[in-house]
Amino acid sequence: MEKLVIRGGKPLQGTVPISGAKNSALKLMCASLLSAEPLTLENLPRLADITTLVDLLNHMGVTITVAGGKGGRLTGRTMTFDAGTISDTVAPYDIVRKMRASILVLGPLVARAGEAIVSLPGGCAIGTRPIDLHLNALEKLGATIDIEHGYVRASAPKGLKGATIRFPFVSVGATENSMMAATLADGVTQLENAAKEPEIVDLANCLNAMGAKIENAGSKTITITGVPRLHGATYSVMPDRVEAGSYAIAAVITGGNLMLDGANADDMAAVLDRLEDAGAKIERSSKGVRVSMTGKPKGLNIVTQPFPGFPTDMQAQFMALAAISEGASVITETIFENRYMHVSELCRLGADITVTGASATIRGCEFLKGAPVMATDLRASMSLALAALAADGETEINRLYHLDRGYERLEEKLRHVGADVERVAT
Ligand code: EPZ
Repeated sequence: MEKLVIRGGKPLQGTVPISGAKNSALKLMCASLLSAEPLTLENLPRLADITTLVDLLNHMGVTITVAGGKGGRLTGRTMTFDAGTISDTVAPYDIVRKMRASILVLGPLVARAGEAIVSLPGGCAIGTRPIDLHLNALEKLGATIDIEHGYVRASAPKGLKGATIRFPFVSVGATENSMMAATLADGVTQLENAAKEPEIVDLANCLNAMGAKIENAGSKTITITGVPRLHGATYSVMPDRVEAGSYAIAAVITGGNLMLDGANADDMAAVLDRLEDAGAKIERSSKGVRVSMTGKPKGLNIVTQPFPGFPTDMQAQFMALAAISEGASVITETIFENRYMHVSELCRLGADITVTGASATIRGCEFLKGAPVMATDLRASMSLALAALAADGETEINRLYHLDRGYERLEEKLRHVGADVERVAT
């Protein structure tokens, strides 16, 4: 086991390179199952979740080669996924339980191989997270769905058929699974009330580079005209807007000045606008985003929403900022029912937070004080790291494996811009 030890109080200054987006990379890797020809992905982040999906795709017979590495697996950022032969259409519980995004193999497998047997992912720390929308959409496309012994079996031996699918509410994953499946369906599919997240657009762009016919990704209604097969392609993963947003808060919470190299301001508009409201200076350019702060941030009211609204994946990090801001802030989480596990840990650092239902009221305090804390999920971990960067004294963050799922070389990137942080074995 490892922990992160952070001694706070240093304004961060310099440049942070932004990695490829985890939440796009995972879907693009699943898209490789749709073609018998190799898909080469560039700008892949080096993360535990990527390794988990590599294991799952390997298990299915996908041959994966790493370019530009120094010998070890996953040392490079470019990987080629060759799904020439799919030898196994089962996604076993042991892998799916580690990472819910594994459910995204369901659509591609049933579309290409006519069958998929994928473990139900179960609940997770931030909520129950059902997959009913994914399954209903695949049924609409003509798949037969059975659930037995904790596994979903989807079959469509004669192929899928285009259909109109209207989602009752916005789901990123269900939009992605259906969009991938529909690329190989017979006829036209219309996805209504689709998710508009930038990761959906990235996936559609990659699929179109593989020969798919997808129109209007990024809008409420996506149209997919099925094609008989997809071909190989080379595609570069978009920058990680949540990683970039997290470092933007690192700049503001420490009163620093960071250049987020490669960040795309358009994908982060809701977050950057709110940081401006808090008093930060934001400079947007084609090279990235510069974020600087002098003085105390102002408290904010935030409601999480699907894109282009304020992202749930930035809620915990904003709460750390609110904890040291002037006045009171109210944060309302509308996407997941249990995404406040960081609250009690932030309170251990001296934050003043009360949760009532889906809303948290944060009364800004003069300063936080370092303490040992426990990470409970990925974004909660980052919220604690941010609070620790601003706190007086030393904070120990335990259960680091959560952070390693989604933040590439966190301590290295932070140290490079002046943070006092080390990873130590426990
Ligand atoms: C994606 O999860 C992201 N994960 C999440 O990021 C992100 O928080 C979420 O989108 C919302 O932006 C990945 O991309 C791997 P949803 P996803 O389907 O696709 C409910 C992170 O920290 N729902 O949009 O699973 C669901 O329970 C992670 O990087 C159903 O009820 O999210 C939730 O309340 C965490 N039935 C809401 O919809 C379904 O079939 C939105 O979930 C599907 C979803």
